[in-house]
Amino acid sequence: MARVRMVRWAWAVLAGLCALATCEVQQHCPSRLEIAPCTCQVKKNGLDILCESTNQTGINDAMGGLKGKPLVIFYLKLRHNNLRKLTAFVFLGLDIRHLTIHNSSLSVVEEASLSSIDNGTNTPRHFRNSNR
Ligand SMILES: *[C@@H]1O[C@H](CO)[C@@H](O)[C@H](O)[C@H]1NC(C)=O
Ligand SMILES: *[C@@H]1O[C@H](CO)[C@@H](O)[C@H](O)[C@H]1NC(C)=O
Ligand SMILES: *[C@@H]1O[C@H](CO)[C@@H](O)[C@H](O)[C@H]1NC(C)=O
Repeated sequence: MARVRMVRWAWAVLAGLCALATCEVQQHCPSRLEIAPCTCQVKKNGLDILCESTNQTGINDAMGGLKGKPLVIFYLKLRHNNLRKLTAFVFLGLDIRHLTIHNSSLSVVEEASLSSIDNGTNTPRHFRNSNR
């Protein structure tokens, strides 16, 4: 009897912890090849993807490698790229929580390109664009 109660108690604690952590699936980086020329690191809240010194083609390829996977991209960082324009739908279907863009000669951001970013979830949208 005591044992049954103990098991129930353990379940209650587990369920409580799960609720706190929202029981998110452990995130894994796709293979380097899939997201080349970008790189990926696993962080506490999701993946941290860095794309440096590439162009629109490189970004498109990398985003293609990320699509269709149940990934939470906590940070997508674009640095030192030659982009000019963030085209519509480049991030479509991706769960991107924070997007930072530095020195990427970006002059046009099509609104639809950001439609998949933080769409009404409880974390605030972070979109920074600074050209250095
Ligand atoms: C874009 O970068 C790739 C390598 O990442 C290169 O092969 C390609 O020539 C570049 N395209 C342009 C238009 O610069
Ligand atoms: C900005 O990016 C270009 C490549 O597009 C790079 O050559 C240059 O060094 C970068 N500038 C700074 C200040 O990092
Ligand atoms: C974002 O939310 C709008 C309405 O709030 C919806 O029409 C749109 O389909 C959503 N986009 C994604 C990628 O979930």
